[in-house]
Amino acid sequence: MRARIFAFSLLLASFLPGAAPLARAQDAAYQAKSASYDGIGKVWMGREIAQVMGHEGADWLERPARVGEEKTDLLMTELRRRLRPEATVADIGAGTGYFTFRLAPLVPRGRVLAVDIQPEMLRMIQYRGRKLGLANVEPILGTIADPKLPADSTDFVLLVDAYHEFSHPREMMAGIVRGLKKGGQVWLVEYRGEDPEVPIKPLHKMTEAQARREMEAAGLAWRETRGFLPQQHFMVFEKP
Ligand SMILES: C[S@@+](CC[C@H](N)C(=O)[O-])C[C@H]1O[C@@H](n2cnc3c(N)ncnc32)[C@H](O)[C@@H]1O
Repeated sequence: MRARIFAFSLLLASFLPGAAPLARAQDAAYQAKSASYDGIGKVWMGREIAQVMGHEGADWLERPARVGEEKTDLLMTELRRRLRPEATVADIGAGTGYFTFRLAPLVPRGRVLAVDIQPEMLRMIQYRGRKLGLANVEPILGTIADPKLPADSTDFVLLVDAYHEFSHPREMMAGIVRGLKKGGQVWLVEYRGEDPEVPIKPLHKMTEAQARREMEAAGLAWRETRGFLPQQHFMVFEKP
């Protein structure tokens, strides 16, 4: 267990260039504090924002043990139940595309917008998309404050283990809400902050209460929280 926490810590030690200046950014909407070992010293709604996982951690995202640890197969079963073949779904903070490439076959007449801020991650997605001959995966290079979704374009936004590391959560969520169609949903998957047994560093987890506060501040309505995953909350929010 300790070894896993340590391995995860090492991965998180590789940060994006510019993370330090970000930590110093004094946006009036945010508070500043001295940075925790896994944080950037910037506080949103009482929560210190976590450091971004660098692309050097790509192998960790694709590790074979992930399916056993996180039951990603159960998550996909849940998403399959909710998706329509013609849906547009945005995988934001897509990383290597772990979920992008599991979503793409479920929306054969729709598309998956795979958004990340690291060009290295997008290159991996582009390469894999071409190799698999998938025409419905669209990589998008977002910025730290804008997911670059076309307005009113998206039925569902999937955020897996990514939201807690958005350096500009307020601006990112404004962009996500703009990109969602009316009635569109955000599916937020975060390690459970309430559970000390979940072997992940504190700032890389979120409590349900905190997640609800932040999503509701973005103008989304909470619909449900499901507890079928061993380590994460699955939360559903809707654009009214
Ligand atoms: C821990 S990884 C999770 C990747 C993927 N969702 C998964 O579960 O395999 C988080 C990803 O979020 C990305 N990220 C961080 N801030 C972002 C932002 N503002 N917009 C888009 N992606 C962001 C990082 O570059 C990283 O690839």
